[in-house]
Parts: sequence; C-alpha cells; structure tokens
Amino acid sequence: MKKPVRLIALLVVLLGGGTLAYSMTRPRAGYEPHQPIYFQHRRMAGAPQWTKDAEGKDVNTGGFNIPCLYCHSMEYKGRHATLPSTDICMNCHSTVGQSKEWVLVLQGYWERGEPIPWVKVHDLPDYVYYDHSVHLAAKNDQGEAKLDCVDCHGTVEEMDVVTVQSAFNMGWCLDCHRKPEMNAPTDCVTCHR
Ligand code: HEC
Ligand code: HEC
Ligand code: HEC
Ligand code: HEC
Ligand code: HEC
Repeated sequence: MKKPVRLIALLVVLLGGGTLAYSMTRPRAGYEPHQPIYFQHRRMAGAPQWTKDAEGKDVNTGGFNIPCLYCHSMEYKGRHATLPSTDICMNCHSTVGQSKEWVLVLQGYWERGEPIPWVKVHDLPDYVYYDHSVHLAAKNDQGEAKLDCVDCHGTVEEMDVVTVQSAFNMGWCLDCHRKPEMNAPTDCVTCHR
C-alpha cells in the first residue's frame, strides 16, 4: 500500500473504533425519534404569541397553553406516565384545525379506530425501576413539590419535537438522589428490585 492510502485506512479504523466506544457509553441526551404525526409541544403546550397576519388579523403563532396533565394524566398509578389516547386529541380536533396537514393524518387514525403508533422517546431498560408518582409527590420541608416536569424533561413547552434532555443513565439518577435537599435513597435495590 502506498503511504497516503495506509494513512487513510488507519484513520478509518480509528474513527470507526472511536464511534463504537462512544456509542457504548453514550448518554441518551438528544435522542429524537421520528414520530407518525408532526406533533409540536410548542404549538399545544406553549405560551400564546399573537401577531398580525397580512390582512391585519390577529393570529396565534405560539401555543395554546394546554396543561401537561391534560394529556399526560399522571393519575395513572402505574410506573409510567401515559401518552394521550386519540380521543383526547379529538376533544378539540373534531372541530379545530381541519385545514392543517397533520390534523388530517390524526383524523385518519381516529376514523380507522387505530391507536397512533407514537415512538417512545425515553425508554429505560426493564431492569431499572422508575416511578413518576414518587417523584412528583416528593415535598420539601416547606411542603412544596421538590420536582416538576422541567427538572428532568426541560422546557418541553418550547420544543417542536421532544428530545431527551439529560443523560437518563445511572449517573444522572444518582447525581440527583445524592443531593442533600433531595433526601432520596441511593442503595441499589431502590432502582434494581
Ligand atoms: C395536547 C396534548 C399534550 C400536551 C398538552 C402535552 N403533551 Fe407531552 N406528549 C403528547 C404526545 C402526543 C406525545 C407523544 C409524541 C411525542 O413524543 O412528541 C408526548 C410526548 C411527551 C414526552 C416524551 C414521551 C416519551 O415517549 O418518552 C414527554 C417527556 C412529554 N410529552 C412531556 C410533556 C410536558 C412536560 C408537557 C407540559 C409542558 C406536555 N408533555 C404537554 C401530548 C401532549
Ligand atoms: C425525576 C425526573 C422526572 C420528572 C420530575 C418527570 N419525569 Fe417524565 N420521565 C422520567 C423518566 C426517567 C422517564 C423514562 C421512564 C422509562 O423509560 O421507564 C420518563 C418518561 C416520561 C414519559 C414517557 C412515558 C413513560 O412513562 O415512559 C412521559 C409522557 C413523561 N415522562 C412525562 C412527564 C411529565 C408530564 C412530567 C411532569 C408532570 C414528568 N414526566 C416529570 C423522569 C421524570
Ligand atoms: C384543548 C384543545 C386541543 C387538544 C386537546 C389538542 N389540540 Fe392540537 N391544536 C389545537 C388548536 C387550537 C390548534 C391550532 C389550530 C389552527 O391553527 O388552526 C391545534 C393544532 C394542532 C396541529 C397543527 C399544528 C400546526 O400549526 O400545523 C396538530 C398536528 C395537532 N394540533 C395535533 C394534536 C394532537 C396529536 C393532539 C392529541 C395528542 C392534540 N392536537 C390535542 C387544540 C388542541
Ligand atoms: C432531579 C432529581 C431526581 C432524579 C434525576 C431522579 N430522582 Fe428518583 N427520586 C428523587 C426524589 C426527590 C425522590 C423522593 C424522595 C422522597 O421520598 O421524598 C426520588 C425517589 C425515587 C424512588 C423511590 C424510592 C423509594 O422507594 O422511596 C425511585 C425508585 C427512584 N427515585 C428512581 C429513580 C431513577 C431510576 C432515576 C433515573 C432514571 C431517578 N430516580 C432520577 C429525585 C430524583
Ligand atoms: C437512583 C437509581 C439507581 C440506583 C440507586 C442504582 N442504579 Fe444501577 N442503574 C440505574 C439506571 C437508570 C441504569 C441504566 C443505565 C443505562 O441503561 O444507561 C442502571 C444500570 C446499572 C447496571 C448496568 C450497567 C450498564 O451500564 O449496562 C448495573 C450493573 C447497575 N446499574 C448496578 C447498580 C449497583 C450495584 C447499584 C448500587 C451500588 C446501583 N446500580 C444503584 C439506576 C440506579
């Protein structure tokens, strides 16, 4: 092999190996799957933003301020937060937004009676025990909630597409559990039962 060719081959091997090692230790932050409907949290849960259109009419280019819990009913006592069923969307979309491309796709699922196949953004391995309800119920000495959605998921109401905002690996869980003000258990069986 000529010298420059060998050099390129070596670089390819080094780069390939580097990516592999990186993928094995990679935190989950930034993961952004392709969803069946272009559903924008910014449009649904974000703050309204009024502007004038060409004819001087007021239009909302921001969001509709729908509370997180309207769609993610955390009252479900299981380990997982729920994703909204199509019925919840249709509470509004049987009358609102028909001219919008993705609302038609939404209606298609509803008319066919098919659930929308949302792809999970966060997905911890099954050997990890995680429960939203303990986190959302935890109170400090003043009786205030210690945590809110934003502490783990970031400002979802400003996102077009939900992405993973922190590492969501063991180090991330433990970093928070170890904070004195959190007063959360750190023994292995807490999360591996
Ligand atoms: C109008 C209904 C609606 C509202 C309001 C809403 N969401 Fe969602 N949310 C969805 C739908 C539908 C999905 C699944 C599609 C996606 O991931 O974008 C989702 C996905 C998510 C996910 C990712 C779930 C996963 O698969 O891991 C998080 C986190 C989330 N929402 C947090 C929030 C927070 C925090 C708020 C309030 C600021 C909020 N949502 C408001 C409907 C809603
Ligand atoms: C202490 C951190 C934390 C807080 C606070 C938190 N979440 Fe989560 N959330 C997680 C973790 C961790 C997962 C991944 C669970 C899994 O994959 O098993 C998750 C997953 C989700 C999912 C996907 C469905 C599921 O349960 O896997 C939704 C939707 C969601 N969260 C919404 C919310 C909303 C809405 C709030 C506020 C009311 C909130 N979360 C507060 C850590 C948090
Ligand atoms: C509380 C009422 C309400 C609920 C519930 C609701 N939406 Fe919407 N949605 C709206 C309004 C209002 C608009 C703006 C319509 C317009 O601009 O014509 C909208 C717009 C949209 C758009 C088009 C965004 C754009 O600007 O192109 C999509 C897609 C959408 N919604 C999907 C959903 C899905 C999926 C759900 C269920 C998870 C849902 N919506 C639940 C009120 C709602
Ligand atoms: C931002 C801070 C924070 C993060 C991140 C966090 N936790 Fe927690 N966790 C808490 C707090 C606060 C409590 C409740 C302490 C109390 O009882 O008041 C708690 C409690 C728990 C409990 C219940 C313990 C028990 O039996 O009482 C489990 C299980 C748990 N967390 C698992 C996890 C896992 C798994 C992760 C990572 C995927 C995680 N937590 C990430 C703050 C956090
Ligand atoms: C606060 C929650 C929490 C506690 C406490 C905890 N873990 Fe974990 N552990 C996790 C999470 C989350 C993962 C998943 C990491 C991932 O997939 O990125 C994990 C993964 C692991 C793995 C798999 C390693 C890997 O990266 O594939 C082992 C082994 C493990 N934990 C051992 C332990 C031991 C031993 C203890 C006690 C010293 C412990 N864990 C305490 C949350 C926790």
